[in-house]
Amino acid sequence: MKILLLEDNPADAGLIKTLLERAGILSEFAVAADKSEFIEAITKNSFDVILADHRLPQFSSVEALKIIKDKNMDVIFILVTGTVSEEFAVSIIQQGADDYLLKNNLNRLPAAIIQSIERRKMQLAKKLAEEELKTSREQLRQLFFHTQNIREEERARIAREIHDELGQQLTGLKMDVFWLNKKLNPVDAEVKEKIAGMIGLIDSTVRSVRKISSDLRPGILDDLGLIAALDWQSSEFEKRTEIECKFHSETNEQNFEKDLATNIFRIFQETLTNVARHAQATKINSMLEQDNEMIVLTINDNGKGFDQKQIPKKNTLGIIGMGERAMMMGGELKINSTPGKGTTTILKVPLRIETTPLKN
Ligand SMILES: Nc1ncnc2c1ncn2[C@@H]1O[C@H](COP(=O)(O)OP(=O)(O)OP(=O)(O)O)[C@@H](O)[C@H]1O
Ligand SMILES: [Mg+2]
Repeated sequence: MKILLLEDNPADAGLIKTLLERAGILSEFAVAADKSEFIEAITKNSFDVILADHRLPQFSSVEALKIIKDKNMDVIFILVTGTVSEEFAVSIIQQGADDYLLKNNLNRLPAAIIQSIERRKMQLAKKLAEEELKTSREQLRQLFFHTQNIREEERARIAREIHDELGQQLTGLKMDVFWLNKKLNPVDAEVKEKIAGMIGLIDSTVRSVRKISSDLRPGILDDLGLIAALDWQSSEFEKRTEIECKFHSETNEQNFEKDLATNIFRIFQETLTNVARHAQATKINSMLEQDNEMIVLTINDNGKGFDQKQIPKKNTLGIIGMGERAMMMGGELKINSTPGKGTTTILKVPLRIETTPLKN
């Protein structure tokens, strides 16, 4: 090991050198007796370990440590000193020293050096593992964003195709049946009934097509915007579940950016679905409002509530997905729930306005 000793007492320096040689851990040894020698030594050579006496004429271990830290040098720093107070020892460790040692206990020095090196190695391994974890989390998050976007585009495309193609074809079919009905002018009651039945069937197929298409992606979101879509979703939900569902908006903003609108809408849907599935609620109140540059969606149900500490154990993805969507928009999602007292979900995201004008 290459070791630099900051020490102005030659006798102490000699003692330490002998000790290290005996321990068999020394490959190079240098002594600096003051600040300029110290700076010269660390500039010219790279050391594995610096052993520093606390007090030297016009220089100190604290200053030496600061120089090392300022230069971002990767070197073990151990204070070796005659006397030192407990507070000082703690403070120099906090400032980044690896260890400290009293001169009357020098036998511990080789072991202290080896331990410090081991500790550094472990810290480095930990840091690397943490960085790797962070990177892979970030990659997962990006993947989530990516799949969500693709899914949304895909849904929009399929919804449009189902709506436009099937819708058109069914309308054509209905017109043809009307035409036949007129041409044949059937007298036979059975035929009349059959034709009426066919028209009824076509009408209900048209309704199914519309429903499938708007379940995939409600056209109202693209045509009339977020507020209309939330309002529509709220009354659709009420019809389907018989849970009284009220929505009201306190913002006049109309031009929400498309991704923002989609994400807020999806979070709204997911929250309503959760209420229907888990809450046993009879009422939902929701509100969209603007708070400076933030847009806030609050959804409150009067259901049975739940203990959020249990969520991680459940392995479910709904709430996690909503949180990710919120993050994706640079915002956050908070859920306040107490068993027996209902649930309130609050989504807060920075408002973003569509810069390209709407189609119409
Ligand atoms: N409004 C609510 N009222 C009561 N409990 C709720 C409510 N919302 C969520 N929960 C509880 O939180 C749990 C987690 O919700 P989350 O949406 O993450 O998963 P999930 O709905 O069970 O499944 P999925 O992953 O399909 O959404 C639910 O299983 C439920 O116990
Ligand atoms: Mg859910």
